[in-house]
Amino acid sequence: MQHIFIKGTDDSKPTLLLLHGTGGNEHDLISLAKEIDPTASLLGVRGNVVENGMPRFFRRLAEGVFDMADLEVRTKELAEFIDEAAERYSFNRENVVAIGYSNGANIAGNLLFRNGPVVKGAILHHPMVPRRDIEVPVLTQLPVWIGAGKNDYMCPPQESKDLEGLLTAAGAKVEVYWSDYGHQLTHDELKAAKAWYATHF
Ligand code: MLT
Repeated sequence: MQHIFIKGTDDSKPTLLLLHGTGGNEHDLISLAKEIDPTASLLGVRGNVVENGMPRFFRRLAEGVFDMADLEVRTKELAEFIDEAAERYSFNRENVVAIGYSNGANIAGNLLFRNGPVVKGAILHHPMVPRRDIEVPVLTQLPVWIGAGKNDYMCPPQESKDLEGLLTAAGAKVEVYWSDYGHQLTHDELKAAKAWYATHF
């Protein structure tokens, strides 16, 4: 997968796996990640699917309607990519935290739903429930932070609440931040994610 790796200055810190929203690329979340942890290594990845010129991590049939077969294949591809990148760049595979926005948060969510605790934690900005047809694997004490908007038309508040419920039922330690806004990422949301990260990693 097309990507950028930036080595951090503190090897004990997690490597932050950065997953952009629709129309983004591997560079999109670099400055956000540097704000969350200026010393961590960063792995920005570009989704392999292109929709009307816009990169995504998996196909969709309509807005909010996922192509489940493609989601399955792309999630496997991403999981394998993380393993390969850990070898190639010699970072600790056991110490990876995912940060995703929108489409990127959805594939990060599906990674947990499908592969279990293959990351040490996750920051999910404006995610949806990736699928409702499987039992979520055990995610004991996995720290997950969700940023949601009370007026998010793309990701309705109920999606965030359902995701919180499903992850919590699987044993994850979930915290949800609610903004009064829509699908956009606000500075206050970023500040809240940074504060949560600081207490967990
Ligand atoms: C998705 O397709 O993953 C969601 O609708 C959010 C997005 O458009 O990125």
